[in-house]
Amino acid sequence: MTSIDWDALREVAKKAMAHAYAPYSKFPVGAAALTEDGRVVSGCNVENASYGLGLCAECGLVSNLTMSGGGKLVAFTCCDGNGNILMPCGRCRQLLFEHSAPGMVLETVSGFKTIEEVLPDAFGPRDLEAFNK
Ligand code: THU
Repeated sequence: MTSIDWDALREVAKKAMAHAYAPYSKFPVGAAALTEDGRVVSGCNVENASYGLGLCAECGLVSNLTMSGGGKLVAFTCCDGNGNILMPCGRCRQLLFEHSAPGMVLETVSGFKTIEEVLPDAFGPRDLEAFNK
């Protein structure tokens, strides 16, 4: 974890947050993550007049990850409109799990935690592989 520049990652999340489209909740969110091969990807929330269709910041981040070459995430941070650390919602923990390297570290409201700690006993790609064998 010493090689991760959390201050820099937080700044990227804040910059992403400034692009949020959140006219309905008025709750902008920015997310940033580091990939195994050293890229930084980010995203912001994008809401919709059909409220349920709103996209969390993590959705944009995962899209950015895939579009920029894919790979696995090793570190993640997320912030609200005040720049304070925000926990990814349950759905987004699942979204992140799919693209996480084992032991991916998240900056959380209660310190640094691994993806396995914030989404214990997660359902994931391996469950599908095991079934299809
Ligand atoms: N939101 C995110 O972008 N990520 C999260 O992990 C939590 C919630 C967004 C969704 C919605 O646009 C706004 O925050 C208020 O819920």
